[in-house]
Parts: sequence; structure tokens; C-alpha cells
Amino acid sequence: MHDTVARTKDTGDLRGYLAEQERKSLLRFLTCGSVDDGKSTLIGRLLYDTKLIFEDQLAALETDSRKHGTTGDDIDFALLVDGLEAEREQGITIDVAYRFFATPRRKFIVADTPGHEQYTRNMATGASTADLAIVLVDARAGIIQQTRRHSFIASLLGIRHVVVAINKIDLVGYDEAVFEEIAADYRGFARDLGFETITAIPMSARYGDNVTTASANTGWYGGPTLLEHLESVPVDRIDTGRPFRLPVQYVNRPNLDFRGFCGTIASGTVSKGDQVVVAKSGKASTVARIVTHDGDLETAVAGQAVTLVLSDEVEVSRGNMLVSPSARPEVADQFTADIIWFDEQPMLPGRTYLLRTETDQAAASITELKHRIDVNSFSHEAAKSLDLNEIGSCNISVQQPIAFDNYVDNRSTGAFILIDRMTNRTVGAGLIRHPLRRASNIHWQALDVDKAARAEMKHQKPVVLWFTGLSGSGKSTIANLLEKRLFNDGRHTYILDGDNVRHGLNRDLGFTEEDRVENIRRVAETARLMADAGLIVIVSFISPFQAERRMARELMAEGEFVEVFVDTPFEECARRDPKGLYAKALRGEIKNFTGVDSPYQAPANPEIHLDTVGRPPEDMVEEIASWLRERGIA
Ligand code: ADX
Repeated sequence: MHDTVARTKDTGDLRGYLAEQERKSLLRFLTCGSVDDGKSTLIGRLLYDTKLIFEDQLAALETDSRKHGTTGDDIDFALLVDGLEAEREQGITIDVAYRFFATPRRKFIVADTPGHEQYTRNMATGASTADLAIVLVDARAGIIQQTRRHSFIASLLGIRHVVVAINKIDLVGYDEAVFEEIAADYRGFARDLGFETITAIPMSARYGDNVTTASANTGWYGGPTLLEHLESVPVDRIDTGRPFRLPVQYVNRPNLDFRGFCGTIASGTVSKGDQVVVAKSGKASTVARIVTHDGDLETAVAGQAVTLVLSDEVEVSRGNMLVSPSARPEVADQFTADIIWFDEQPMLPGRTYLLRTETDQAAASITELKHRIDVNSFSHEAAKSLDLNEIGSCNISVQQPIAFDNYVDNRSTGAFILIDRMTNRTVGAGLIRHPLRRASNIHWQALDVDKAARAEMKHQKPVVLWFTGLSGSGKSTIANLLEKRLFNDGRHTYILDGDNVRHGLNRDLGFTEEDRVENIRRVAETARLMADAGLIVIVSFISPFQAERRMARELMAEGEFVEVFVDTPFEECARRDPKGLYAKALRGEIKNFTGVDSPYQAPANPEIHLDTVGRPPEDMVEEIASWLRERGIA
């Protein structure tokens, strides 16, 4: 933007120029491809050839090319785009960079997304608003798995136009047959991806063939240059024709006389006097004012940032949506979505993640992974988890209902990301397909005999004592002694023990990561029911993952979950080896054995930390008993 304005200062007619820019249509596109396919070079070439490179940027570029470039004395166009020093040193681009440029016919925003195998995430981010994807293919390599994956993601994300840029055509001697074969290959596999247009162009980003000017080297090619195509591909902005949606970013209340709901209109149009409804509560009101930075408006449309003032006092908190009364979004706590996973740690059904939409968030878990999608054949396969870069169709359950649209109807209100609650990393992106109604008519039954009454009758406070530690650390021994002692004191107790529960309720589960997550989920739910029955519940499971222990904690009432870390070092457990399992695991006869080839994540802040080495179990039982006594629990 800066470049454009600065250049036109010379012409003196800045206002006229800006007005003209306003009127032009906007095409958003992204480039995708592998590391060396030439994406950055292509974007650099586009920017350069459209003559929008700032003079001094150009000077810097020449110096930089000499320093870092890989192209001898020629300008290295990739350096224009790979902005960050760190990226240059790694030789890959690591984040989405948005570039703006314009021609007399159209304005463009290009998301430059990195092509390194593990950066599917950035592509998903850059693609979510794009109209068109340029899929780069190295003419020497042809279609590779990444071409398929990126195309599939582009199609999932609702991109309707694809350019297959068959790049480095100079390196195959400008051979028409190579071009035709790759173009046919691409059309073959992309047939079912639902793109409206697929345009294959032979190109050399480095030398400029068919980027902005038709190349004499490809006389056999009769199609448009890349720029001609970008300037003419139809972009019909349908967002404004869709039902009105304003996801509320925050509530602006500077004083008692003013309350405005701020956000960017995701779709549709709103005018003063329109009826609107709060998505989650169904409360209706009328738009009294549409406030913006540049004063009040009569009407605002998709893409504009506004503050709506309503004529009634209605409750709308951040994360809710103001919507059209006649076409409301879904409000549900269970739905089906396609998930693109981009974390090294696999997606595990049953684990709790933080689900975040544009303005809302809630704890969520995958209740079922219905199938994984093979990016080569697009076939559906059975799977228990999703690994890095895998895509699957899932049922999801959120702790509180969220308001959303189906992704095909609205790319902004139908999308979400998943965040790992331990690391805070964004681990996946989701596209909502439809709500699930199956559990929608189940309500909590208000029962007359409640938890408090049941606990009162037993003269105790319900509590869940959650023992975690390695196999053989002494959990069962201590749990057993503790229960005996509580029982003798007249307490009502129950022990849930890993080995025992795995003979019944969890008989179908083994020791893979996903099975352990499910094991703990079921046990936590059971412990909750028992606490609700008024019992003192002692849970004795390795429960190796922090995430599931946290999930269990959050299931229980405040103060009711007591984490007891039975801290015995691996060497000591292996020395004791009460069941002979360590010997077997160390010989490789048992797989996924905790501490050997499956991790144990020690608790960071357990309520009770038992350092067991050299202490008799009775001593530790006494420590737990006095902890409970001091808090008036038992
Ligand atoms: S957890 O990890 O899912 O919490 P859980 O406590 O239910 O494990 O079960 C652990 C018990 O199963 C161990 O004490 C041991 O007797 C037995 N076991 C059998 N195979 C394994 C294994 N691969 N890893 C850990 N424990 C195992």
C-alpha cells in the first residue's frame, strides 16, 4: 500500500488515484508448493514486473542479492518476499506474509505460504480467505504428494479457482509434452475436488516466461499469462448476499449512556432500523446506530468493522453473534467437522482441546474420528488418531454451545482452530459440516436426593484422590492401606484400580496413546459419578498424561480433585518390578511400556507429593490422612 501511494505522489493526483483504486475489484490468492518450487521467486517476479517495487527497496535488493542470493549477479526475487532474516538463514519461509499490489485492472492480496512439509498450518491460514490458489509444480518433478495435499486443502477451504503453475519450464527445454502431461495429471486427480476453473500455465518465474508477458520460448502455448488470468478470473463477492452475521469481538461501554457491539461483519448487510437477534439467546432488538471510525453509517456490509448500537438493553457477550432474525446460525454443542491436523503430537479422540472460532472459545473434544482422508486417493480410511498433516472427519463435542454456520455457507463463521491447552500451540483447523442433534433433547434431571444429601447421610465430604505414578511405584499398595484406614474410621469409599478396571469396563483398551486417553476419560467419568454418590473415591492409574489428569480435575467440583503423585523413580520401579513387567519391557517383549517406550509426564503441582524412596507405606498413608483431616474432608 505504502509503495503505491509513494509512487503516485509524483503524479500529483493522489486523491484521484486512491478513488480509482477503491473502485477496482480485489482478488485474494495464495501460492502453494514445496520448498524449492519457486513460490517466493514467482511472487517477487509479479511484484517486480508490475513495477510496484519501491526504488530504495530495489537498491537494497541488489545489495542483498549479492550477500545472500543464490542467483549470482542477477536479482534474487525470492529475497523480496522472504522478508525475515531468520527465514533466509533457514532457507525456508516460516509464516504467512500478505502482499498487496495492483494493476490498472485489479487489486491483489497475495498470501505467501511456506511450502515446507510441516507448514500445512500456514497454508490453511492463508487459504481461508482466498479466491484462487496458484499451485506450483516443478516441471522436472511433476505432481507430488504435496501438490495433492495442498490442492485438497484448497478445495476443503472453499477455494474455487486453481492455477497450476508448471514452473521451471526452462529446465525441461520448454517442452510442450512435459507441460501437457503434468496438466493432464493434475486435471485427472483434481476432477472430484470441485474447482470451478483449473488453468495450467507453463512458466519460468526466474526468467519471467508467461508471468506477466507471453513467452517466445513457449510458442505452442496459446493461453493467458499468469497476470492476465489473475486480472480476469471472475470474483463474485457473495459474502454480501448472505445472511447477516456480526461475530462480537468486544462490547464497548465507555460510559453508562453508550453500549456498542464491535466486530467485523462476516457476511451480509445491516442497515439502521434492521431487526437483529442474539444468536445464542434468541433475544431480538433493532439497530439504532452503525458507528465506524469515519462516523455513522446508514448501511454496512461484509468486511467492514463496525460498532452496532441496539435500541434495547440486551445481553450480548464477546463470542456471541448478532444475526439476521430470518436466517439464524446453528447453535449446538455437538457437530461434525473436517479437521486438518498440523501438530507433531497426534490428535487423540477423547483429549480436551481449546476450540476457538473467530470470537468464541470453549473446551472441546473429538468424540469420534469417523475416518481419515487419504490425500493421494481421497479415499476414506479407518483411523484412531490423526498425525501431522493428516485430514479427517470427526464428531466434536464442546462444553458450551457455540453459534456457527456450515463452512460451505460461511467460511468465517464455519471455521475454527484447535489449541493444545498444555503448550498453547495451534494444532489443527476445522471446517464445520453440520450440527449433531442426537443429544439435544437430553437435559439434566433435577433429582430430589442430591449429592449433598447423599454425602451428609454418610457424614463425609466426597473427594477424588487421584493417584498417579509409574507402574510399580506403589500406588495400589498405598491406596489399599488408605482405604482400609478410612473404612475402619467409618468412611464410605471405593477404589478404582487400573489393573481391575481393565478387566471390565476398559477391557477393550490397550496401551497406545489413544487408548490411554480413553481409559482415563472413562475412569474420570466413573469417579465423578461415585463422588456424586457421596463417596470418597481413590483412583489408582498410571495416568501418564498431564492433559487427561487436567481433564479429570475439571470434571470434578472445585476442591474435590486431589492429585497424589506417587513419585518413585524409574530405576526403583524397575528394580522392584512386582509383576515382572519391566524385565519384559526392557527386553522389548511389551510395547508402549510407560517409562520405557511410552512417556510419563510428572504432575507439576500435585496437592500431595509422595517421595516414596525409603519411606514405609504406612507413613505415606498417614500423610494423606492428615492432609484430609486438616481440610475437614475425612
Ligand atoms: S494408564 O496408563 O492407562 O493409566 P493403567 O493404570 O490403566 O495405565 O494400567 C497400568 C497397569 O497395566 C500397569 O500397572 C501394569 O500392570 C499393566 N500394563 C500392562 N502393559 C502395560 C504397558 N504397556 N504400560 C504400562 N502398564 C502396563
